[in-house]
Formats: sequence, C-alpha cells, structure tokens
Amino acid sequence: MTHELVEKNIGLMVILIVLVISVGGLVEIVPLFYQKSTTEAVAGLEPYDAMQLTGRDIYVREGCYNCHSQMIRPFRAETERYGPYSVAGEFVYDRPFQWGSKRTGPDLHRVGGRYTDEWHRVHMNNPRDLVPESVMPAYPWLEKTALKPSGITKKMEVLRMLGHPYSQEQIDAAPAELEGKNELDALIAYLQILGTAGRGVQ
Ligand code: HEC
Repeated sequence: MTHELVEKNIGLMVILIVLVISVGGLVEIVPLFYQKSTTEAVAGLEPYDAMQLTGRDIYVREGCYNCHSQMIRPFRAETERYGPYSVAGEFVYDRPFQWGSKRTGPDLHRVGGRYTDEWHRVHMNNPRDLVPESVMPAYPWLEKTALKPSGITKKMEVLRMLGHPYSQEQIDAAPAELEGKNELDALIAYLQILGTAGRGVQ
C-alpha cells in the first residue's frame, strides 16, 4: 500500500531519494573532516616553499595532471613500481590536490629525489633525449621564462589564512628566492619535493 503510494507519486519519491542520499552522504563524508588521519600532516611534511609553490602552479598551468597522477594506490603492483602508497596526511598542503586518475605517463607522487635536477632539465627540454619512445611533450620555454617575484607574497598570505603555517620571515623572504630563477628551476624544485615526507609513513 505505502509502496504503491511512493511509486505512483514522483514528487514524494524524489523527496525520499534526496533524503536517503543526504543521510548516506553525511554519514560517509562528514567524519572525514574530523578524522586525524585525513586532516593532520604526516611527520616531516612542510608547506611548499616559495620556489616549490611557484613550480606547482606551473605544473597546474601546463596541465601535467592530464597525463600524470599523484596517487599511489595500496596494491602490490603499484608499491613495487612507485614506492609506499599515498596517504591522506601527505596532501594537507595541496590546494587543490593533483591526485588525478589519467596515467599516460607514470605516477609522480614519489618522483622526488628519484632523478637529479640535471636529469629533469634535459627531460623537460626534450623527453626523447632520455627516453627515445616517450610521448611526453617537450617544454623548452620553461627554461627561457624568468619567474616574476611579484605575486608570491600575496599567494603565501592567502595560504597562511587557510592554515598553512608560514612564518612572516618566510613570506618576506619569498620574492628574493624567486629573483633570477626561471620556470624550469621552480618546476624542478616542486618535482624534487614530491612524496618525500611520506616515504617512511608505512
Ligand atoms: C601527453 C602526456 C604527458 C604530459 C602532458 C606530460 N607528461 Fe610527463 N611523461 C609522460 C610519459 C609517457 C612519460 C614516460 C616516458 C618519459 O619518461 O618521458 C612521462 C614521464 C615523466 C617523468 C619521469 C617519471 C619517471 O618516474 O620516470 C616526469 C618527471 C614527468 N613526466 C613530468 C612531467 C611534467 C612536470 C609535465 C608537465 C609540465 C608532464 N610530465 C607532462 C607523458 C606526459
């Protein structure tokens, strides 16, 4: 009887469906905002410094996430290839995170420290100089483009407002750190820090 009422009354059905999904969502999602393991940084994780932060924005601007994920899943095939699987506490300073799911190229979450800066320099200028069969595009303009130190102070101030623990000295020193550097320097600084804090987590 009640079942028939719900089936024949689409308005009521919509309301009930929304109710069920909302409760399900609340129960699944809300606890994540309060769980220590998802909101607290893993030991040793620091917010990105001026160069790394700038490099991260270049990574986003160039769309590297279209081919690279930054999320190692807890499966043997992944951990043997890339290293320890990713945990939530490693991403608390990532706004927005770069997890992704498209892997035309390898996952980059633990690429930090795997190669030398010089390797990255050659690879970014022309991947095929190092990996002949690579389909990754070349990014030769990065090395030729100087960084603009002007926006970094504001960027770090906004992140501090959102909870990144930058000191005033770090923010004041930021523009000088970008002075005389190019976009490739910044991108490499970012790549070299990726996943390094979380290596010893498991
Ligand atoms: C069209 C897809 C594509 C895009 C876009 C792309 N890559 Fe790649 N990337 C690849 C492929 C395929 C490989 C594996 C072959 C190689 O090493 O060149 C790779 C390899 C890499 C590696 C070496 C990883 C390892 O563990 O050996 C790094 C580092 C890298 N890419 C960084 C970047 C960065 C930074 C960007 C953005 C500026 C970028 N890639 C954009 C496809 C891509």
